[in-house]
Amino acid sequence: NRKNLIEVHSIIDSTNSYLMRRLPNNVTHGQTCVSEFQSAGRGRRGKEWISPFGSHLYLSMYWYLEQGMSAAMGISLVVGIAVSDVLQQEYELEVQLKWPNDIYVNGKKLAGILVELEGQSIGPGNCVIGLGLNINMPKQSADQIDQPWTDLSTELNHDVDRNMLSAQLIAKISERLEQHHQFGLAPMLDDWQRQDFFYNKQVKLLTGNKETRGICKGINSSGALLLEVNGKQQPIYGGEVSLRGV
Ligand code: BTN
Repeated sequence: NRKNLIEVHSIIDSTNSYLMRRLPNNVTHGQTCVSEFQSAGRGRRGKEWISPFGSHLYLSMYWYLEQGMSAAMGISLVVGIAVSDVLQQEYELEVQLKWPNDIYVNGKKLAGILVELEGQSIGPGNCVIGLGLNINMPKQSADQIDQPWTDLSTELNHDVDRNMLSAQLIAKISERLEQHHQFGLAPMLDDWQRQDFFYNKQVKLLTGNKETRGICKGINSSGALLLEVNGKQQPIYGGEVSLRGV
């Protein structure tokens, strides 16, 4: 039974930035920070993460990657599986996972994951995992979001206890990360693939301003996306890439 140190803030710039600033010495393995509000919430690829007060869940966890940065690619997939576990087991909600780190319900985004790393590509490293999960979207914020979204109270048709949900997520994310540390991603591939949003679908992959079209064929045991281009599968590693349906 592991223990996570948990800090609860009411106002912060970004829970991810906060833990990143504490590296390398002022943070313990599994330490978690949640906040009611973020003035500078960050999404992937430099985008803003709209973070109204008291409405959603903004959570970050520090994780020491003992086995090295090569494991980092899998981390956001593992966290996606953990979030899906909790929603399924505790709230009977089925979600879909969009590589590398979005959580969807019926084609609308419910949550996003932002993994940030510090360290060399070889050897152990530091990792901060951020999760933003929509719970109760206020009208004013809804207008600012430029993609299809949903929130948990809409999907469940009832209110959600954010303290309870945070506790369940922190426990499950730590458990899955520990499993990943011991056994790698391979035993979780089926769990991920069962919920793969883009499986067998035509997509375009955006890398900077380069666009590649292909068909998604799941992921491999390093967490890379398998994209079939002209009949040949190629692994796509993370980084600044984005997948869109076509
Ligand atoms: C994405 O889908 O683009 C990732 C969104 C991640 C948002 C969370 S909210 C808690 C943590 N702090 C941040 O500034 N970002 C992450």
